[in-house]
Amino acid sequence: MSKLTLEQEAGRRRTFAIIAHPDAGKTTLTEHILLAGGAIRAAGAVRARGENRRTRSDWMKIEKERGISVSASVMTFEHDGKMFNLLDTPGHEDFSEDTYRTLTAADCAIMVLDAAKGIEPQTLKLFEVCRLRDIPIITFINKLDREAQDPMALLDDIASRLQLDPAPIWWPAESGNRLRGMVEIGTGRFQPYVRKAAGSDEDPEHGDPLPLADAAAHFEGGEQADLAEALELVEGGYKPFDREAFLEGHMTPVLWGSALRHFGIEQLLKAIGDWAPAPKVMKARKEAPPETRNAPEPVELTVDPGSAEVTGFVFKVQANMDPNHRDRIAMFRMASGQFRRGMKLKVQNTGKQLSVNAPIMFFASDRELAEDAFAGDVIGIPNHGVLRVGDSLSESGLIRFAGLPNFAPEILQRVRVKDPLKAKHLKKALEGLAEEGVTQLFRPELGSDFIVGAVGQLQFEVMADRLGEEYGLDVVFEPSPYAEARWIGGDKADLDDFAGKYRPQMARDIDDQPVFLAKSSWETGYVGERFPKVSFMKTKERG
Ligand code: G4P
Repeated sequence: MSKLTLEQEAGRRRTFAIIAHPDAGKTTLTEHILLAGGAIRAAGAVRARGENRRTRSDWMKIEKERGISVSASVMTFEHDGKMFNLLDTPGHEDFSEDTYRTLTAADCAIMVLDAAKGIEPQTLKLFEVCRLRDIPIITFINKLDREAQDPMALLDDIASRLQLDPAPIWWPAESGNRLRGMVEIGTGRFQPYVRKAAGSDEDPEHGDPLPLADAAAHFEGGEQADLAEALELVEGGYKPFDREAFLEGHMTPVLWGSALRHFGIEQLLKAIGDWAPAPKVMKARKEAPPETRNAPEPVELTVDPGSAEVTGFVFKVQANMDPNHRDRIAMFRMASGQFRRGMKLKVQNTGKQLSVNAPIMFFASDRELAEDAFAGDVIGIPNHGVLRVGDSLSESGLIRFAGLPNFAPEILQRVRVKDPLKAKHLKKALEGLAEEGVTQLFRPELGSDFIVGAVGQLQFEVMADRLGEEYGLDVVFEPSPYAEARWIGGDKADLDDFAGKYRPQMARDIDDQPVFLAKSSWETGYVGERFPKVSFMKTKERG
């Protein structure tokens, strides 16, 4: 039993995600953060863990083949009195919806930039998501051990393209072969960089910081004097770090290093511990499940991380991690209370109750049963399809957090199983995958084909792979006549009128919500004008 109060437990949580353009070093950095946090003992373990996972769930083969990460998970570790929950976001752009949902569970993001490349397209997209959700950002400029862009140019890029004040916390002393280390702005402490000895497999320790004036041994020629001079410019040229401005999303502290060489990682971890926000007060509604008779009007409220009732929401469902047991693990991000193993929680939108007897905490090296958890923590709840992405769970069953959006898919395809005897199987399998929230499933009102929607082409490949590996179904995806899907809303009479006229293009989604399948974006515009009382929506909030 914890001796700390609920507020104190919540206050020592740091739940964060890493966002990066593919190849900027997210995986390497994850690994080295876990190493610095004492969660793993040797580099290489994250990959090894990945391999293990893959043997348990073959569908991730595609990850391995393509060298991309398509699954998001969480890793928890305790360091320096704080509990860190690192949410792993998929980097590939086809999985932006999944990433978006994962970021709803994060209180802070680490934006990794490749020092030679700066801001890249995917960095920008992910940044927009963080901005939309007011997630404060710590910047880590990686790969200093390689030739980098001019540091000032990198910071100017952050300022002009992201409209974010960069506040350098450290300043690099050159890069690549001439990398000497970095200096802390304000204190002038110099952190030396020690190169790997030729022929050695071991990464050296970089040693302790020392005053720059005492660090002559680490420099050549006039380098030390040049650095001291540059520092004056830097200290005068950028605003000093202001935590309030960072928390409000106007400023980003900038740190530097090399994930691969384990340089600058302790400093980054300290920045996360010191500055990243603890779980925040969240907006919610007190609301009875939909079918409740004589239910009182919903009431808007705020949920304080220190309040007693266990509340939270599911931001991801991972299915079939173990192909032998069609398990589903719902990733539950806690917003308040103290969760204890065996507790009963209710799903707000269905009123269903479940006893959480085998909750999982994801530690880097292992999964463990969670005995207790607090606001900010993420626990895996095994279930058989009761929990869906976007569900709110609480002890009373009356707390509802704003739903996680579903985005209208950008590609719609028809799916067919080669063996017609397996059509029933296909339906179940498609529903299972849609429940995970990775792809969307539309059942046309007429005809028996299923239409599958996804944000990117790669999702169809992953899906075909999973249908084969996990369900033994050989499927083909074919072009469909549809280009866009829109959820429709409005008065019943108007909806009936519209649906009556467009019956062949009407479908239902996995939650039985009506959807209009348009043949072109022109058609979406056309029906919008013809039926002004019907709304055609690009996003749908679940719950
Ligand atoms: P990602 O998850 O963001 O896609 O990036 P990942 O960590 O997989 O890193 C991409 C490549 O960049 C890897 O090289 C990795 O070793 C390298 N890298 C990451 N951080 C650093 C760094 O600080 N310095 C240098 N020099 N390289 C770094 P790779 O050759 O693609 O893979 P591998 O064969 O090394 O595993």
